[in-house]
Amino acid sequence: MPEPKYRAAMEQGKTSKKSFCYTNKCSVLTFLLVIAGIAVAVLVTLFVKSVRGPATKEKAGLQWWQKDIIYQVYPRSFQDSDGNGIGDLNGIRNRLYYFNDIGVGIVWLSPFYKSPMKDFGYDVSNYTAVDSIFGTMKDFEALMKDAKQKGLKVIVDFVPNHCSDEHPWFKQSKHDFNGTKYRDYFIWSKGVNESGQRVPPNNWQSVFGGSAWTLDNVSGEYYYHQFTPNQPDLNFRNKDVLNEIDNVFRFWLNKGVDGFRIDAIPHLFEVKNLSWNENINVNKSWQENAGRHIYTRDLDEIYGVVRRWRKVLDEFRQDDGSEKFLVLETSDLTKEMRDKYYAAGGVPFFFELLGVQKSCNVTCLEDIIKRGTLGLPSGGWPNFVIGNHDQRRIAERWGEEFVNAWNMLLLTLPGTPTTYYGEEIGMTGMNYTQNETVDPAALQSNNMSQSRDPERSPMQWSNASQAGFTTGSAPWLKVNPDYLTINVAKQNASDSSILSIYKLLAKLRTRSAFQNKDITFTRVTDDILSFTRGDKSDKYLVVINFGSNSATTNFAQLKFESATVEVSTNNAIYNVGSLVNLTSLTLSSAQGLVLKIK
Ligand SMILES: *[C@@H]1O[C@H](CO)[C@@H](O)[C@H](O)[C@H]1NC(C)=O
Ligand SMILES: *[C@@H]1O[C@H](CO)[C@@H](O)[C@H](O)[C@H]1NC(C)=O
Ligand SMILES: *[C@@H]1O[C@H](CO)[C@@H](O)[C@H](O)[C@H]1NC(C)=O
Ligand SMILES: *[C@@H]1O[C@H](CO)[C@@H](O)[C@H](O)[C@H]1NC(C)=O
Ligand SMILES: *[C@@H]1O[C@H](CO)[C@@H](O)[C@H](O)[C@H]1NC(C)=O
Ligand SMILES: *[C@@H]1O[C@H](CO)[C@@H](O)[C@H](O)[C@H]1NC(C)=O
Ligand SMILES: *[C@@H]1O[C@H](CO)[C@@H](O)[C@H](O)[C@H]1NC(C)=O
Ligand SMILES: *[C@@H]1O[C@H](CO)[C@@H](O)[C@H](O)[C@H]1NC(C)=O
Ligand SMILES: *[C@@H]1O[C@H](CO)[C@@H](O)[C@H](O)[C@H]1NC(C)=O
Ligand SMILES: *[C@@H]1O[C@H](CO)[C@@H](O)[C@H](O)[C@H]1NC(C)=O
Ligand SMILES: *[C@@H]1O[C@H](CO)[C@@H](O)[C@H](O)[C@H]1NC(C)=O
Ligand SMILES: *[C@@H]1O[C@H](CO)[C@@H](O)[C@H](O)[C@H]1NC(C)=O
Repeated sequence: MPEPKYRAAMEQGKTSKKSFCYTNKCSVLTFLLVIAGIAVAVLVTLFVKSVRGPATKEKAGLQWWQKDIIYQVYPRSFQDSDGNGIGDLNGIRNRLYYFNDIGVGIVWLSPFYKSPMKDFGYDVSNYTAVDSIFGTMKDFEALMKDAKQKGLKVIVDFVPNHCSDEHPWFKQSKHDFNGTKYRDYFIWSKGVNESGQRVPPNNWQSVFGGSAWTLDNVSGEYYYHQFTPNQPDLNFRNKDVLNEIDNVFRFWLNKGVDGFRIDAIPHLFEVKNLSWNENINVNKSWQENAGRHIYTRDLDEIYGVVRRWRKVLDEFRQDDGSEKFLVLETSDLTKEMRDKYYAAGGVPFFFELLGVQKSCNVTCLEDIIKRGTLGLPSGGWPNFVIGNHDQRRIAERWGEEFVNAWNMLLLTLPGTPTTYYGEEIGMTGMNYTQNETVDPAALQSNNMSQSRDPERSPMQWSNASQAGFTTGSAPWLKVNPDYLTINVAKQNASDSSILSIYKLLAKLRTRSAFQNKDITFTRVTDDILSFTRGDKSDKYLVVINFGSNSATTNFAQLKFESATVEVSTNNAIYNVGSLVNLTSLTLSSAQGLVLKIK
C-alpha cells in the first residue's frame, strides 16, 4: 500500500489526464505511446544490465544501513533519567531528538539486558529481559516506538559467545552433571591429569588474564570462559543452544529492532579436543600471545552459525526489500575471514583505523583505507570505525586538535561509518585512579592501562551539574571535569565547534557522491591525505593534514585548480563557501577541508 502522500499524487495525475485526454483518438495515441515506452524501458534495462552489471542494482537499491551513520550508545553512560547515576532507556528516549539533530540515522545500543553487571552488561543473565537498572520492557517498547517516529533505525547488541554465571542455563548446567539437557550448554571438563590430580584441562587463557578455566565447586568440574569466570562460554555445537539463540533473535525482531551487533564472534568455538595446549607463554598476557590462540578463536564453524542467523533475520525481511542488519565484532581480520563473513551474510566490522596511533603516517592510513575498500567480495560493503567502548578516544590517541580531522575522515570515507558517543563533541579520555577503576579487564589483569573506563565516562551534555548526565550526585563513573568547556550545549552555540563541523559532515555525506564504494586517492605530499569522491557531475576533494607540520600542496597537476570549501576544520582560516586556489594549498597540522571541485 503506497503512502498517503503518494496516493494523492497518483489521484491528481489521473484527474488531470482525464480532462486533457477525452477523445478516442487520444486513447489510441496514449496506447501507442505506452507500448513504445515499455519497449524503450525494456531495451534500456537490458542494455544497462549488460554494460554495468551488478553495480547498477546496488546503486538503485542501497540498503538503509548502507546510507546512514551508526552511532554507538553505551547506555550506562549516555543519559540517566532517574537520578541513580546510571544511564537508562528513558534517558536515551529523551535524547532521541539529538540523533536527528546531528544527522545520525542508526542507533546502536550496547547491552541493556538483565545482568549482574560483572562486565557491565556483557554478562547476560536473561537475553529477553531488560535489566531494572536500565528500565523495563515497556520503556524499551516506548523507545522503539519513538525512534521509528523519528525515522531512526535501532540495532541492539547481542552477546552469544557467553552468558552470565547467573543465567538459569548455567545454574542448571552446574547441578545437572549427570548428562541431562543443560549440562552440554557449556564447555565442561573433569580436568584430571595422568596422576589423578585436578588441573585445568589445558593452557588456554582468558582475554582478561589468567586461565580460561574455573573449577566449579558444585559439579567439581572446570568450565570454560573466554572472558571473566562470571561469563561461561556457551557451546555452539549443541542444537538446543543454537535454537535458543535463534529464538532470542526472533524475540527482539518481533519488538521491531532493525538489526544486531554481535559481540566477540571470533570466540564462538574452541576445538573439541580439550587436551590440545596452545603454543603460548602462560606467563604472558593473552594479548601478548596474539596470533597463537589457534584452538580458541576464528574456527571455521563460526561462518555456518552466521549463515544460520542470517536466515533467521531474513524471516523478517520487509516487503520493500529492506533487510535486517547483522554486524559482527571481529578482530585481526584477514582478507579470507572477511570474505567468509560477507559470504555468510554478516558485515564484519573493519577495525584497522580504531587502534591507529600517531605513528601511522599518511602512507599507513592510505594502506588501511585501501584494505577496507578495495577487493571486497560481491555483496561486500565498506565500513569504518574510529572509536568504541573498548578503545581509547581519538583525543587521547591523537590529541584533541585531531578530533575534527578524524571525524572528517570517518564521514567522507566510502561505506558505513560508526561514531562512538561523545566523539562528535571531542570528549577526552577521563583518567580514573586505581581506586576509582571498575572495569574487570583492568581489575582481573591488575593492569590499569587495560582499563576501558576512560572511554566510558558519562556523556557531556551541558555545563549543568554532572554535565547534565544525571540529576543524582554519584554517577557510576566520575564525570570528566573538562565538561565545563566540552559539552553539547556549548558546541551547539558555535559554528566552528567540533559538533557543528560534525553536523555539516553528516549532512554532506547524504549526497550521492558519498553514497557509493568508490574512492580515488590523489596523494601529492607525504603529510596530507587526499582523495576524491563522486564523479564529474558532483565531485569532492578531501584534504587532511595528518602530519605534525604545516604543508603545502599543489593539486594543479591533477587538473584541479580551484574549489569551494564545503566543510572546514578551521573556519578562521578557510571559510565555508569561500574559493580556494588549489595550485598552492597550505594546511596546518590536523587541518582538513572538504572541497567541491569546479
Ligand atoms: C527472562 O525473563 C522473562 C521476563 O521476565 C521471563 O519470562 C523468561 O522466562 C526469562 N527467561 C529465562 C531463560 O529465564
Ligand atoms: C548423579 O548420578 C550419580 C550416580 O548415578 C548419583 O549418585 C547422583 O546423586 C546424581 N546426582 C544428581 C544431582 O542427580
Ligand atoms: C598433575 O597435576 C599436578 C598439579 O599441577 C602436577 O603436580 C603433576 O605433575 C601432574 N601430573 C602429570 C602427569 O602431568
Ligand atoms: C563455591 O563457589 C562459590 C563461588 O565461587 C562460593 O561462593 C561458595 O562459597 C563455594 N562453595 C563451597 C562449598 O565451596
Ligand atoms: C586428543 O588429542 C590427543 C593428543 O593429540 C590424542 O591423543 C587423543 O586421542 C585426542 N582425543 C580425541 C577424543 O580425539
Ligand atoms: C612461567 O613462570 C613460572 C613461575 O615463575 C616458571 O616456573 C615457568 O618456567 C615460566 N614459564 C615460561 C614458559 O616462561
Ligand atoms: C611512513 O611509515 C612507513 C612505515 O609504516 C615508512 O616505511 C615510511 O617511510 C613512512 N613515510 C614517510 C613519508 O615518513
Ligand atoms: C590524563 O592523563 C594523561 C597522562 O598522564 C594526561 O596527558 C591527560 O591530560 C590527562 N587527562 C585528563 C582529562 O586529565
Ligand atoms: C584507595 O583506597 C584505599 C582503601 O579504601 C585507601 O586506603 C586509599 O587511601 C585510597 N587511595 C587513594 C589514592 O584514594
Ligand atoms: C599492561 O597493559 C598494557 C596495555 O595492554 C601493556 O602494554 C603492558 O605491557 C601491560 N603491563 C603489564 C605489567 O603486563
Ligand atoms: C553555561 O552554559 C550556558 C549556555 O550553554 C552559558 O550561558 C553559561 O554562561 C555557562 N556557564 C558557565 C559557568 O560556563
Ligand atoms: C592560483 O594561483 C596561481 C599561483 O599563485 C596563479 O597562477 C593562478 O592564476 C591562480 N588561479 C586562480 C584560479 O586564481
